[in-house]
Amino acid sequence: MSVLVVGGAGYIGSHVVRLLRESGTDVVVVDDLSNGVPARIGDTTLEQIDISANAAPEALAGVIRREKVDAVIHFAAKKQVGESVERPLFYYQQNIGGLVNVLEAMRRENVTKMIFSSSASVYGAPEDAVVTEDSPTEPINPYGRSKLIGEWILADCERAWGLNWVALRYFNVAGAGWPELGDSVIMNLIPMVLDKLADGAAPRVFGDDYPTPDGTCIRDYVHVKDLAEAHIAALHGLDGQLTHHVFNVGTGRGSSVTEVIESIGRVSGLDTSPLVEGRRAGDPPKLIASADRIREDLGFVAKADLDEIVASAWEAWQAGPRRIEA
Ligand code: WQD
Repeated sequence: MSVLVVGGAGYIGSHVVRLLRESGTDVVVVDDLSNGVPARIGDTTLEQIDISANAAPEALAGVIRREKVDAVIHFAAKKQVGESVERPLFYYQQNIGGLVNVLEAMRRENVTKMIFSSSASVYGAPEDAVVTEDSPTEPINPYGRSKLIGEWILADCERAWGLNWVALRYFNVAGAGWPELGDSVIMNLIPMVLDKLADGAAPRVFGDDYPTPDGTCIRDYVHVKDLAEAHIAALHGLDGQLTHHVFNVGTGRGSSVTEVIESIGRVSGLDTSPLVEGRRAGDPPKLIASADRIREDLGFVAKADLDEIVASAWEAWQAGPRRIEA
């Protein structure tokens, strides 16, 4: 068994690479290193390829042939919501163009197993706080639309040439499975709070007047190592007969922004008293995964609770260049 991990030097991809290699699976990584860090994957074979380039299918097909690849896990994509609103064509070129090129290489080389990184952002701002995979998909930005279109493309390839696929809709991914694999981008709540604390500043809360118990937004935080395990479960699922292709990956439990910031205070021993700012545009008050389908079909259950996620994020942050002295 040999697995091609596209985007394997990134935050989530490198966790999957680590788990696969620990289980004795052969792995080859393709990454353009725009966000990926080679040190994250140690001595794993790395091919630096821009998957959105015209020459990519040829180059990827060469890697698939040489490494005798049986399955592809596709992480490589742009993921900044705000940037996707500013530069929609760039997002479609990167996320859709890249996926199409990976699939074209797979089609040429008769590789039929694919796991695709989708996102809870395909649901947009849903009516119901808890979303199942059958909830309406109404993404509200080009990033979310690029993920939904990706799922449609996979379904079309299934019909046309028998692609066997799973799309995992990630909820709020955080933490680190190993301290050196922490998220190096300051884009989401936990890194943004730690970044403020590293500056000696107060964490920011974007709105405390939402219709939730403490007034701050509720999200479903899932440990990146649990998420990586979900990919392993999906890979095993592709060996059998799957009834579904699309799965939420979350815990089924919600935590508010205030609860996350309090957890960071407990874990770090720092004063995390926040500064409340106005609402950020486009934030749904409450977004929680129904985690039933992935448990029933793939036997996957996320294990880590909020404090464990935060503790691992804190440990990874302290191992990095902006260590916070108490
Ligand atoms: C969580 C909550 C903020 C920072 C986004 C994407 C989604 C997915 C995950 C990628 C919100 C609040 C944040 C801060 C705050 N992306 N917040 N103070 O918006 O749920 O989801 O990331 O692949 O597609 O949309 O995550 O971490 O940005 O925010 O109060 O300093 O924390 O307003 O309520 P979000 P987030």
